[in-house]
Amino acid sequence: MSSDWQPRLPPRIRVALIDVDEPGARVLDDPALISPEEAARARRFRGESLERRYRRAHAALRLLLSRETGCAPALLPISTRDGGKPFLPGSTVSFNLSHSGPLAAVALASGLEVGVDVEAPRRLHGDALSLAARFYHPEECRMLTAVPGRGREAAFLRLWTARESLVKALGAGLDQMPGDFNAAPLLEGAQAVEWGGWTVRVMPAPAGAFAAVAAPGAGWGYELVSPFWLA
Ligand SMILES: CC(C)(COP(=O)(O)OP(=O)(O)OC[C@H]1O[C@@H](n2cnc3c(N)ncnc32)[C@H](O)[C@@H]1OP(=O)(O)O)[C@@H](O)C(=O)NCCC(=O)NCCS
Repeated sequence: MSSDWQPRLPPRIRVALIDVDEPGARVLDDPALISPEEAARARRFRGESLERRYRRAHAALRLLLSRETGCAPALLPISTRDGGKPFLPGSTVSFNLSHSGPLAAVALASGLEVGVDVEAPRRLHGDALSLAARFYHPEECRMLTAVPGRGREAAFLRLWTARESLVKALGAGLDQMPGDFNAAPLLEGAQAVEWGGWTVRVMPAPAGAFAAVAAPGAGWGYELVSPFWLA
């Protein structure tokens, strides 16, 4: 049967924003949820809280992927592309993970690349304008200069998450940030910006935190989902 008349719904992206320090996240401590490599990497973190957060973020990713694919969490054959972006070989399910302080973001999509970034509330290591001068578009720098006081750090992080989510959707690294990407409209109330056929959308995040998701095209939406183990 032809599928020509099937409704063409825009692809959806689902994003779980998780506070891995919450009591309900204890379920993520099950050692059977992560791979031996991830367990070994977790042990290299200095400090119990950093180790626990890393383990829980990766367990959350694997639990959500397991639900999507039917494969046991620790057995999911997560691999990495050139550039470091994790992916599931042979699957149409794409995903991306971000973690910052107690927050983790897991984005899942089917049939389109996705990048996600979350930044927990924090002070910058350095001056926002000097950092922006190194990394940001001139229009973003100009707008940041006009923001007074602590609001400037918040604006900086708003832009940072947008830029990181795009880089992560592209699967690129620090050296491949598109020089002409300009997220400045996000500081004037825009909820999305486009670059080279990709769209970056800001997402609601806990007070003082910022989050963004990026994917190709403009005809997609995202929904924030509650992780099923906390529901
Ligand atoms: C790879 C990179 C994108 C990770 O970003 P980060 O903010 O340090 O960390 P996040 O928590 O958001 O993401 C880390 C996760 O992304 C995934 N990841 C790693 N490399 C990736 C890549 N190249 N593309 C997409 N996702 C990647 C992994 O799941 C990783 O988790 P892990 O380290 O626990 O295994 C970062 O190292 C990088 O190169 N960033 C580009 C920075 C940049 O150009 N910024 C300009 C804007 S200011």
